[in-house]
Amino acid sequence: MHPAPVTSPDFIAHCRTLIDQTLSRRLATLHQPHTLSEAMRYSVLGGGKRVRPALCMAAAMALGERPEAALIPACAVELVHAYSLVHDDLPAMDDDDLRRGRPTTHIAFDEATAILAGDALQALAFQWLAEADGLTADVRLAMIRELASASGQAGMVGGQAIDLASVGKRIDLATLETMHRLKTGALIEASVRLGALTSARVSDAELGQLARYAQALGLAFQVQDDLLDIEGDTATLGKTQGADMARNKPTYPALMGLASARDYLQDLHQQALEALAGFGDQAAPLREMASFVVARQH
Ligand code: IPE
Ligand code: IPE
Ligand code: MG
Ligand code: MG
Ligand code: MG
Repeated sequence: MHPAPVTSPDFIAHCRTLIDQTLSRRLATLHQPHTLSEAMRYSVLGGGKRVRPALCMAAAMALGERPEAALIPACAVELVHAYSLVHDDLPAMDDDDLRRGRPTTHIAFDEATAILAGDALQALAFQWLAEADGLTADVRLAMIRELASASGQAGMVGGQAIDLASVGKRIDLATLETMHRLKTGALIEASVRLGALTSARVSDAELGQLARYAQALGLAFQVQDDLLDIEGDTATLGKTQGADMARNKPTYPALMGLASARDYLQDLHQQALEALAGFGDQAAPLREMASFVVARQH
């Protein structure tokens, strides 16, 4: 048994504070070019649920580590996520003008600046991982490999390509699932894997169970995102409600209907919890995260 870590009564709030403080402190050191640095800060700070970094820290805790051990990897994943949102909102992609309750980066600045801010955030994520204190070179390398593969053609970017290529087309459920697993699931799985890699004692069996949890939760995350596009409201969401429908996006509710998509979300929640069955109380933060993801309203 690993020793029990110190848990906070409100794990997600505790992580969010740590993550926000760390992101803000580190991004404050960016200076020239001034507009680019401002756009990077604008894209990362002042909003965001911080689900991926919280998952990274929760995975470390499930293995008996302190959540702070995963703080820099957690922040690196959030930088990749923030970059993916900036690019996702661009006119050439989803063409959205509202994100986290504020104008999207290309509206607040301009398109070229938003593209460059995304590019720079992605590079910065890998720099933070490469330079992370308190992790061995082997662990840092393993983390860089995980995050690179989850972010690129075989992960998030590949999923975004399927998404854009499917607009207005009727795709089958298997293709939809692949798209969701890549565009959203891959980074969520990487968040959990990076957290697990902070533990020198993690076994292959534990990694396998955590990956199963993350795969179910990653899919659940995007199913709920698709449901909220229909059932949410713009003020709560902080992004434009109905945007998927307006753009003829392939989504779970569009393909299987609202009721089946809701049922599927509950199935995935159960699958995520079952994958944690062998973990005991140390996985309480991961269980809390699963409930948060399926119940989230924005
Ligand atoms: C939105 O992600 C994009 C998807 C992958 C569905 P989040 O819902 O985690 O966005 P923020 O970071 O909280 O704004
Ligand atoms: C986003 O999917 C996935 C990313 C890789 C950013 P969506 O396009 O559904 O995300 P939102 O609804 O704009 O946040
Ligand atoms: Mg999109
Ligand atoms: Mg979008
Ligand atoms: Mg969406």
